[in-house]
Amino acid sequence: MNVHIFSSNEELNEAAAGLLAATLHTKANAVLGLATGSTPVGVYEKLVELYKKGSVSFKSAKTFNLDEYVGLPRDHSESYYTFMNTRLFQHIDLPAENAHIPNGNAEIVQEECVRYDQMIEQAGGIDIQILGIGHNGHIGFNEPGPTLQSATHLVDLHEETRKANARFFDSIDDVPVQAITVGLGTIMKSKTILLLAKGSDKAEIMHRALRGPIDPQCPASFLQLHPQLIVMTDSEAGRLLK
Ligand code: F6R
Repeated sequence: MNVHIFSSNEELNEAAAGLLAATLHTKANAVLGLATGSTPVGVYEKLVELYKKGSVSFKSAKTFNLDEYVGLPRDHSESYYTFMNTRLFQHIDLPAENAHIPNGNAEIVQEECVRYDQMIEQAGGIDIQILGIGHNGHIGFNEPGPTLQSATHLVDLHEETRKANARFFDSIDDVPVQAITVGLGTIMKSKTILLLAKGSDKAEIMHRALRGPIDPQCPASFLQLHPQLIVMTDSEAGRLLK
């Protein structure tokens, strides 16, 4: 595991975007695993800057997002489809057909989950997976519990997760109760994993995830087993990792 603690968000965003750009320089048709939430927003902004400067192209890349709410219309302002389009996709040269997000409105969710894993596999697997971390240790929407699921699956969001995400909605009642998430096995098969964390409210869970025991009650702790785990935090989120 490589842990990098940055003194500013700016540096963190630049380093993370630089790593993604470097991946695309080495392999133009790289498969990128993407996350939503507030943590990667600045990284996507830097990627857009790099693209506009002509320093990186996504025209042969493929992307797979980690998750999507179930039952939220695709064009809802808080769907992850809208998030990715407004934050990244509409500003870069990634062909629309190469951008994948689970379909949270699929008629048969089970079939959508199987289809999603098959598409990742057919694309050759994820070359680099960006992850944020929930306060309860979730990655994607793999919530803590007695067991964890390997494949893409339907998940009931924990109250804590809905509360954390209520800041993006008018009220907590508007936050969907379910999501489709890529499973832990799919995440762990990524060739490289880039775990990002920002802010003092993430310090304790980052310590538990990376220095504590491997425990399904903290799904991110399984990342300790990944041979190519890169961690980038700001000084607050990384406070207990030094
Ligand atoms: C988002 C995702 C989630 C978030 C996590 C942290 O696609 O998979 O696991 O990464 O909830 O969210 P933020 O970054 O908003 O603190």
